[in-house]
Amino acid sequence: MTVLVTGARGAVGSSVRAGLLAAGVDVRAAGRDPGKLPADGGSRVALDLDDPSSYGPALDGVDRVFLYVTGDLRAFAAAAAGAGVRHAVLLSSESVLLEPDPEPGGIAAHHADAEHALRGVGVPTTALRPGAFAGNTGQWSRGIAAGVVELPFPEAATTPIDERDIADVAVAALLADPVDESPHLTGPESLTMAEQVGLIAEHLGRPVEARKVDPDAAREQMARFVPAGIVDSLFRYWRATDGVPAPVTDEVEHRSGHPARTYRTWLAECFDTN
Ligand SMILES: NC(=O)c1ccc[n+]([C@@H]2O[C@H](COP(=O)([O-])OP(=O)(O)OC[C@H]3O[C@@H](n4cnc5c(N)ncnc54)[C@H](OP(=O)(O)O)[C@@H]3O)[C@@H](O)[C@H]2O)c1
Repeated sequence: MTVLVTGARGAVGSSVRAGLLAAGVDVRAAGRDPGKLPADGGSRVALDLDDPSSYGPALDGVDRVFLYVTGDLRAFAAAAAGAGVRHAVLLSSESVLLEPDPEPGGIAAHHADAEHALRGVGVPTTALRPGAFAGNTGQWSRGIAAGVVELPFPEAATTPIDERDIADVAVAALLADPVDESPHLTGPESLTMAEQVGLIAEHLGRPVEARKVDPDAAREQMARFVPAGIVDSLFRYWRATDGVPAPVTDEVEHRSGHPARTYRTWLAECFDTN
């Protein structure tokens, strides 16, 4: 069995690659610049999901694919079906669940389109739908360094999920019989953003304040750097989760065989303060 791992140097994809190699699977790691991929096992291939001319060599002889959502995946999905791919594990998003009737151009629509692209060509798909990643903490790095994290919705709650847990679930799915399913993956606990900042401060052993800022001003600032549809999605999400505990599922434990890692564990093992 040969598994194509897209985004093989991404936070999730790198752990998927490592987990498959550890299981003895023939892994073909893909990236837009394969020279940047690790060379310590399996093979490497150039794949740009926005460039159909790169699909043929990447998919030749591949049974299964771990796939990131980028751009419009319809052409890649058709190529994968044509190449005989029997199972795709897609890094989708919880947003698809939260917005069953997604706003065009938003995060949910982007991921729902990718799920439809694969299912539309008949490739059995495990669409992993994780909530907010623990690694999103990196977006606060400047504030953490300065000792003040500015938040438009400090009481918005998520279930921060460790990227390694998503990868463990992906590896288990890639090693099992192909099925079509959409598991909702979460971390083990609901935490508000302010609570996350509190745990960061505890981890660092120094004060880090979670400071509430005006949502309109924060939105205006974000819109300078982030596409409008994504800004709209994030603000809809934060407003909807403001003061509302986020639901926790047991899918990580059930599928990976180990409890979901806590945010504290992620901070201790993965948080990069440099
Ligand atoms: N952050 C969250 O809270 C959250 C929640 C739910 C779902 N998600 C999903 O998870 C994704 C982020 O996962 P992550 O943190 O593991 O990502 P990451 O570390 O930022 O890595 C992204 C990977 O995507 C690959 N990539 C980007 N454009 C590509 C293209 N055109 N063709 C081929 N590969 C391409 C990159 O590969 P190269 O640079 O090597 O080409 C890179 O390895 C999000 O985009 C979203 O779909 C995120």
